[in-house]
Amino acid sequence: MKRKDWLELLRLVGNINRSLDLQDVLRAILEEIREVTASEAGSVFLLDEEKGELQFYTVSGGAESTLQAYRIPLEKGVVGYVARTGEAVILNDPHQDPRFLRDLEKQTGYTTRNLMAIPLIHKGRRIGVAEVLNHREGPYTAEDLEVFRALGEMAAVAIQNARLYADLERLFRESLRALVAAIDARDPYTAGHSERVAQYALWMGEELSLSREEQHQLELAALFHDIGKISIPDAVLLKAGRLSEEEYHLIQSHPERGVEILRHIRQFEPILPAVRHHHERWDGQGYPDGLAGEEIPLFARIIAYVDTYDALTTDRPYRRGFSPERALQILQENAGTQLDPGLLPVFRRVFPRMAGEDDA
Ligand SMILES: [Fe+2]
Ligand SMILES: [Fe+2]
Repeated sequence: MKRKDWLELLRLVGNINRSLDLQDVLRAILEEIREVTASEAGSVFLLDEEKGELQFYTVSGGAESTLQAYRIPLEKGVVGYVARTGEAVILNDPHQDPRFLRDLEKQTGYTTRNLMAIPLIHKGRRIGVAEVLNHREGPYTAEDLEVFRALGEMAAVAIQNARLYADLERLFRESLRALVAAIDARDPYTAGHSERVAQYALWMGEELSLSREEQHQLELAALFHDIGKISIPDAVLLKAGRLSEEEYHLIQSHPERGVEILRHIRQFEPILPAVRHHHERWDGQGYPDGLAGEEIPLFARIIAYVDTYDALTTDRPYRRGFSPERALQILQENAGTQLDPGLLPVFRRVFPRMAGEDDA
């Protein structure tokens, strides 16, 4: 392999490992293999073992490449052959080869002059196929195939990493949701509260154009804002009658208790301030620290809106839930005292979605 090709490969490894998002990884892989093998188009086919299909991602064309996804049955075509046998293939006259799948050409509107296809193998397991089409400099050679194979090995690792990460991330989120749902369910009046507050907060985060990372943190903070209630006894938490002063203080300790629980997990560090301060008030009359105005972390000010909205619109032992419109009115009256008036327009824009008026 030429020195230039190895340098390309090194650059590729950097590029495809920059993100852990599968779509981003595939896009980076496809762009790199197209360039390094001097091909017009590149495709990655990921094996879906359950369905016996290959999920097909392709990038073609110039600077403005688009990632498209198709599905093809495993028994079909050159890539099907490569996926089944694990053999690499070079076809410099594909239309003469019985394995060549003309249907796909019709589907993609792409004419194939020549192609190379290799299996993507990770730890001995076939995870898919990579293919490049239409060499810019005549037929594909054995040396081109060697470069392509080296790329394929790294691509397989990057794809598997992205998949593992996605699985972990899903497991993490689902476990958290199950935990929070179990806590909310102790009190029939708050069932689903945290989940709704998380969804509403996320909508506000989107409206505020927060970064993806910030949106993720805001959602987590909202999901966990009341987790401190886990250590408050049912006799107090579910008490229907008037609370004694002591009981009242106990309930008011839930933000601090929440931080106490979450601070042991490193990933939660960024959300601790939002959990601690979600009952602060804009005018400084809230708890636990009596912070006022912009001293209160932004995420806590956002959660204050959607937390109050959800509390108002759900039934309580002592009253029926308010209508969304009435709740909005109450929040408007409290902007500037309890709530950050600067966030009111944001809340109003998201309100139709919360009220379920946005379904049309
Ligand atoms: Fe709370
Ligand atoms: Fe709450």
